[in-house]
Amino acid sequence: MINLKELLKKADEGRYAIPAFNYSDIWDLLAIIEAAEEERSPVIISSNPLVAEAIGVDYLAAINKVSMQLVRVPLIHHLDHSASFELCAECVEKGYPSVMIDGSALKLEENIALARKVVEFAHPKGVCVEGELGRIKGKSIEGEYKGEDFLVNVEEAIQFVKETKVDSLAIGIGTAHGFYDTNPELNFERLAEVNEAIKISLVLHGGTGIPDEDIKKAISLGINKVNIGTIIHCTYMNSLKEELSKRDKNPYTLEVLLPVKEEIKKVVKERIRVCGSSGQM
Ligand code: 13P
Repeated sequence: MINLKELLKKADEGRYAIPAFNYSDIWDLLAIIEAAEEERSPVIISSNPLVAEAIGVDYLAAINKVSMQLVRVPLIHHLDHSASFELCAECVEKGYPSVMIDGSALKLEENIALARKVVEFAHPKGVCVEGELGRIKGKSIEGEYKGEDFLVNVEEAIQFVKETKVDSLAIGIGTAHGFYDTNPELNFERLAEVNEAIKISLVLHGGTGIPDEDIKKAISLGINKVNIGTIIHCTYMNSLKEELSKRDKNPYTLEVLLPVKEEIKKVVKERIRVCGSSGQM
């Protein structure tokens, strides 16, 4: 099984990041995979808990198994933002090579205990675990964080990594989920401090709408994985609307969805290039 930790280490040495794209169904999933193949880029395909619940982990795990066998680029199927040990354990049991346990809404000690429990379950089966410290700024399913209360704390990061043994860490440095009203202000200083203090790979969440130059700077300062979600589902839905509007009633599924897939591919390729992962297979 390909190991995400190894891929992220290689990305760190090569000063690029591996993009992790959220998908909702087979069409955006195929768009992500085809774009990664054409760009010859390693790629992470992420199912969030809502998608895992709606489609079912059995289906997702089966698709995951087939896609990992068929593609020529390194491809990792990842469970994104799970606050639940049980869901992480189910995905580990059913063959996901990577899971994220997100206890960032909890107190530090509780977040540590939860992440450690997932690591102890996942590591013996060769599965990598991502944890999270600091919060994703703004209002989302994770809560609402304003002012400075979203920022990762360096001492806490050292303790968290030491006590949990997670393989990678998502850090709150000012990104938010979704589009931004004004340009986000990333705290690069804090990113550099955390990167200096801990040796494991760092993850940037909230990848939609961050200026390309800021993503590149974050990568140069130690980010090895960039999560991208909103731009994928918005491109999917908006091009679906556009394609449907061009047609009379009773359109055929593929006639509509194949051009939609091409639109998503364009966005995925663009993001891959910003992460610098083209040709890094
Ligand atoms: P965006 O939706 O802002 O791209 O963030 C995605 C993400 O961080 C998923 O974990």
